[in-house]
Amino acid sequence: MRINGKALRTIWFEDNKVKIIDQTKLPHQFIVKDLKTVTDAINAIKVMEVRGAPLIGGTAAYGIVLAIIEKNDLNFINQAAGDLINSRPTAINLKWAVDRMMKKIKGVNSKEILSLALNEAKAICEEDVGFCKSIGEHGLKIIESIYQKKKDTVNILTHCNAGWLATIDWGTATSPIYHAHQKGIKVHVWVDETRPRNQGANLTSYELNEEGIPNTIIADNTGGILMQRGQVDMCIVGTDRTLANGDVCNKIGTYLKALAAKDNNVPFYVALPSSTIDWKIKEAKDIPIEERNSEELSHVYGIDNSGAIKKVLIYPKQSKAMNLAFDVTPAKYVTGLITEKGVCDASKEGLEKLFK
Ligand code: MRU
Repeated sequence: MRINGKALRTIWFEDNKVKIIDQTKLPHQFIVKDLKTVTDAINAIKVMEVRGAPLIGGTAAYGIVLAIIEKNDLNFINQAAGDLINSRPTAINLKWAVDRMMKKIKGVNSKEILSLALNEAKAICEEDVGFCKSIGEHGLKIIESIYQKKKDTVNILTHCNAGWLATIDWGTATSPIYHAHQKGIKVHVWVDETRPRNQGANLTSYELNEEGIPNTIIADNTGGILMQRGQVDMCIVGTDRTLANGDVCNKIGTYLKALAAKDNNVPFYVALPSSTIDWKIKEAKDIPIEERNSEELSHVYGIDNSGAIKKVLIYPKQSKAMNLAFDVTPAKYVTGLITEKGVCDASKEGLEKLFK
């Protein structure tokens, strides 16, 4: 997708370095940053210069490449793999990508290992682009059918950033929206801001603006009343981990949107590549839910009159704050899962029909 009219991806490899867009600076500054070591990659994931389940996976894959460039030694690479997996807990793509990289280089002679790893990291990213494009094509059909009935702008609510900035390109939740827009279907997006980090406002609205898609930022709590007023035709959200039974773990607050959608008969779709499916964990309570620094709540970032990015405290200094980053929406509230292989029920049977 584009920034300032220029087609870009969120991550690429150039001159033995990994290039990323530093998402902690968006939307106020556009900075491309170099990752030169595996520690740089781990840090970029931890401080969320890169974020979003598929992009975290892509970065972790390139992290293994950087480790090999740094020190082509099995102990070092194994340690790096463990540290990458532990850098963020909830998004399953991270472990999925590292496991895939390690499997690829297992037993490979040390001269070939780098080119093999690099090709695999590139393949993981390329595959994600293809998956997200297919998600868009499948999701487009749903938007199209609403448009044909309504014959007017389709209002779509999304939560957090599951856009191209959370992936390598296209996005998950936003891909159907981009496809619809490119096909000339009128769409308007309600963008939850989304607290704690305002990633809807900072990232989703930003990327939709860059593509010329009408959107309006709302407080996280506004979705319910909009649904009651008939101003939301459908919800599409992303996911950081979806269980084989169709339960969906996504950015905190997704569950409440799903409840409101159910109460108002608004279709609630979740878009995901298969790399986000956790086939192992059986119950939602076993998903590791990230609890992040409470400063994400108590402080906000913005620009001052001179254009400098500033961080300011908005809570009473003495107050304690608690910051769970994800919640789980039970499958029963999900109308359907939009995957690269098509749309299915959020259920074991639905997922198995497509993927097993
Ligand atoms: O904490 P983040 O920014 O890495 O959270 C990820 C998200 O933005 C989401 O939860 C998103 O909706 C799913 S990732 C495509």
